[in-house]
Amino acid sequence: MSVTQEERMSCSAHLSGDGRSVVILDQRQLPNREVWLTLDTAGELYEAIRTLAVRGAPAIGICAGYGMYVLALRDPTEDAEELLAALERAGEYLISSRPTAVNLAWAVRRMLAAARETADGGAAAIRGRLRAECLAIHNEDIEMCRRISEYGLGLVKPGDGILTHCNAGPLATSRYGTAIGPILLGKERGIDFHVFADETRPLLQGARLTAYELQRAGVDVTLICDNMASIVMKNGWVQACFVGCDRIAANGDFANKIGTSGVAILARHYGIPFYTLGPRSTIDMDCPTGADIRIELRDGEEIRSKWYAEPMTLPEVKCYNPAFDVTDHELLTAIVTDRGVVYPPFEQNLKKLFEE
Ligand code: MRU
Repeated sequence: MSVTQEERMSCSAHLSGDGRSVVILDQRQLPNREVWLTLDTAGELYEAIRTLAVRGAPAIGICAGYGMYVLALRDPTEDAEELLAALERAGEYLISSRPTAVNLAWAVRRMLAAARETADGGAAAIRGRLRAECLAIHNEDIEMCRRISEYGLGLVKPGDGILTHCNAGPLATSRYGTAIGPILLGKERGIDFHVFADETRPLLQGARLTAYELQRAGVDVTLICDNMASIVMKNGWVQACFVGCDRIAANGDFANKIGTSGVAILARHYGIPFYTLGPRSTIDMDCPTGADIRIELRDGEEIRSKWYAEPMTLPEVKCYNPAFDVTDHELLTAIVTDRGVVYPPFEQNLKKLFEE
């Protein structure tokens, strides 16, 4: 199925109509305001990623891919070597904005490899190739989300209760999303589910983004605080957990939004299948286990005072604010990828995805 320009433009990160800027939907302002931002410089791209104006592993990768192209376009040099050197510097800078999601580094490195391959043709050839490459990254993500959604839909029954954590919907990816994809695809086909969305402290991606996306799509969604997951499971209201992922290690351990591993432990206790859904660009075969994943630490102000009219603790109170945690592969029922559903043993079966 081919991807249209219109489909790309409807995504939360895309290339502007004149092809000279990256355009993103400012996710910090949702659900109350829909504000689109135009990014033209490495500094603007870095800040947009760091402050979560654009967020979600695949969306960050798409944004960085477009960003590398826009930076190449706006660099005045006609010297290929000079352009390559500038892109290498910009790439390292963008990668340093967030460490956990592999898609960011993956997209930047893919763009740099494409630039190097075409450097013999001069600066114009590099720019032409980078344009094609960033569009390919985006098109592939749309296709991968479609396939993940199909595979995920095969794992649940009409009327099931599905619990999700954080936001792995269209805002975090393109079109359907990953963890939310089966639910939206089901809706299109007249299949209804009941979704429990964890609010996802401290940045509230579940409340602000997932509940917003599902409500607008007409899906039956109930927002719960993170500490309510246990009771809804105990009540028998959840038949499956679908979550996204920021980096899947070669052994199947995976990093996702802080709190995901707690949901997995609860799901195991209540005998509920627990799935992570993500494209192959989220699988890092160079990362042996979850212990090798770098976890981003964020400012304690996100816990102390963000979202509140007044601070909720004393300013000198210490806070520990890891943005992600690692779920042990033993708690995972399966990994849903664009190449199919991968069951244990993950170490062997993930390898096969890259052999074909
Ligand atoms: O800090 P965030 O909001 O970027 O974290 C996002 C997540 O943890 C998502 O679940 C993950 O990136 C998958 S998005 C398809």
